[in-house]
Amino acid sequence: MIEDFLSIHDLSLYEFSQILDMTEKIKEQPQNYRNKLKDKVLAMIFQKPSLRTRMTFEVGMLQLGGEAVYLAPSDIQMGKRETPHDVGKNMERWVDGIMIRTFAHQEAIDLAQATRIPVINALTDLLHPCQAMADFFTLRESNKDLTSLKLAYVGDGNNVCHSLLFAAAKSGCRISVATPQGYEPDPAIVKQAGQDSEETGESVHLTNDPSEAVEGADAVYTDVWASMGQEKEKNKRARIFAPFQVNKELMDKAKTDAVFMHCLPAHRGEEVTDEVIDSAQSVVFDQAENRLHVQKTIMLLLMEKRNK
Ligand code: CP
Ligand code: NVA
Repeated sequence: MIEDFLSIHDLSLYEFSQILDMTEKIKEQPQNYRNKLKDKVLAMIFQKPSLRTRMTFEVGMLQLGGEAVYLAPSDIQMGKRETPHDVGKNMERWVDGIMIRTFAHQEAIDLAQATRIPVINALTDLLHPCQAMADFFTLRESNKDLTSLKLAYVGDGNNVCHSLLFAAAKSGCRISVATPQGYEPDPAIVKQAGQDSEETGESVHLTNDPSEAVEGADAVYTDVWASMGQEKEKNKRARIFAPFQVNKELMDKAKTDAVFMHCLPAHRGEEVTDEVIDSAQSVVFDQAENRLHVQKTIMLLLMEKRNK
């Protein structure tokens, strides 16, 4: 098993399926895992706000018999008060694992390289791998065959989109991404995902036309138009992204049994209408729940043995 969880790209096909399979068992019988991380401590470094990530990592550790320590953005001030390297060299003396949510992806890499303990990426500007693992677990639970489904992602080619591209490559599903011009996913990520997909036969399709992406899709996914750190661009983006709203008219182009997905938080009335997010097709709160189960799996796989 990998020593850190920084990107789905780093997982072997076996590890990708292992996480999904083990999550199913943990979700079904959580009592069997109650003491698996007894006396272990996870440090949670947050350089950005959070509801789901904070709750699910903290509750996950409690359910596995361990503890979590929350560090707010004002505490460490990583990069400003201390380098990721020095933060890691301190942390490894006290705790058994680190979860990090930050801006620059390089900070998560530097932290992981500096420490003997596992580091879990809980969102960077580049990637959100825990989210995409929970999303693919949710798709599997919604009776979708991961090897043959079509996932449509509509909106900004951001961190969530990047991790979905990697998860799609590992699972072999088709992914169609519709973004405005200039907001496409990072070409380096698309290339890496393309290389991963040579093993599974997945295909990536990029377009600037939301209808084309959603046509015949089994799942339609969107995320906020301005991510954390892009608040200043909010108004400009709202104008550019307006044709990319997931509303009933767009959902109707997908298969009739298609699910609607969103990592949350949602900006209702912007990237998605109330009608869609509150519809029977929406699985957004299943996705949020599954963050807990998937991250328990990831923590168990990485932290049951203490050092890298
Ligand atoms: N989806 C997600 O990561 O939510 P939070 O930002 O609230 O943690
Ligand atoms: N793309 C969003 C995801 C939030 C969970 C952001 O980075 O703010």
